[in-house]
Amino acid sequence: MDSIEQLARLLTESKDTLVLTGAGVSTESGIPDFRSPGTGLWSQMDPMELLSRSALSRNPAEFWRRSEPIFRQMASSQPNKGHYALAQLEKRGLVRGIVTQNIDSLHQRAGSNCVLEVHGHLRTASCPHCGAEREMLPLLDQVASGDNPPRCNCGGIFRPNVVLYGDTLPDAFQRAFQWARVCDLLLVVGSSLEVAPVCWLAPTASRLAIINLGETQCDEIASVLIRGKAGEVLNSLLEFA
Ligand code: APR
Repeated sequence: MDSIEQLARLLTESKDTLVLTGAGVSTESGIPDFRSPGTGLWSQMDPMELLSRSALSRNPAEFWRRSEPIFRQMASSQPNKGHYALAQLEKRGLVRGIVTQNIDSLHQRAGSNCVLEVHGHLRTASCPHCGAEREMLPLLDQVASGDNPPRCNCGGIFRPNVVLYGDTLPDAFQRAFQWARVCDLLLVVGSSLEVAPVCWLAPTASRLAIINLGETQCDEIASVLIRGKAGEVLNSLLEFA
């Protein structure tokens, strides 16, 4: 039995399957991941310099100027066949939910209903002073037109509702950990599992399966390990599960 059939069997035997996704599930939508050699975002810039709390407070205009094209690309991307396959697995009752490190909202746009965003999302930005929330795209247009940094009517500077390096993790992370502890199977798709504490979810689950192009920190504890493209593998999985 090949590894996709093995994974399909684990899925159908599991009574409670949780999926953990990373940037690798969105590369087929044209969004670069972070650590793929040569193409990952972090091979072109320092994450601590770009998406960190200190970078935003030190120079908010520079933060927004540099992140605007990245945020715009994510916000204007479309779900790919991997996102749709995961939504289909949820519809079939084979996946309880998705914990995602991604901020692109592509799982929801593909039809997944139960999605925990442990690194936040790009749909809106908030004012740290008065709590006002705004849709992200008009703020990105403001920044692109030179009206930067984008300010709230109260004078505060908007910050995206994503988890920046240096931020504390949202409550969604605690729930993700609770889910990982009780699930029968955790399926990791498109993550290097390099970033703590999200990567700690993998060894927490009673059984682990991984679909990833590159090596991950948890390969040797996976019951099933598939080196392949998320879209192709997940769609083949649909034929067996
Ligand atoms: N199919 C399967 N795997 C893929 C694909 C694909 N089409 N494209 C890339 N990959 C794999 C890469 O080999 C890599 O191992 O996806 C993994 C993505 O890993 P990272 O780039 O480290 O992304 P991720 O694990 O999501 O990073 C976690 O780090 O910088 C932070 O906040 C950022 O949420 C991000 C977190």
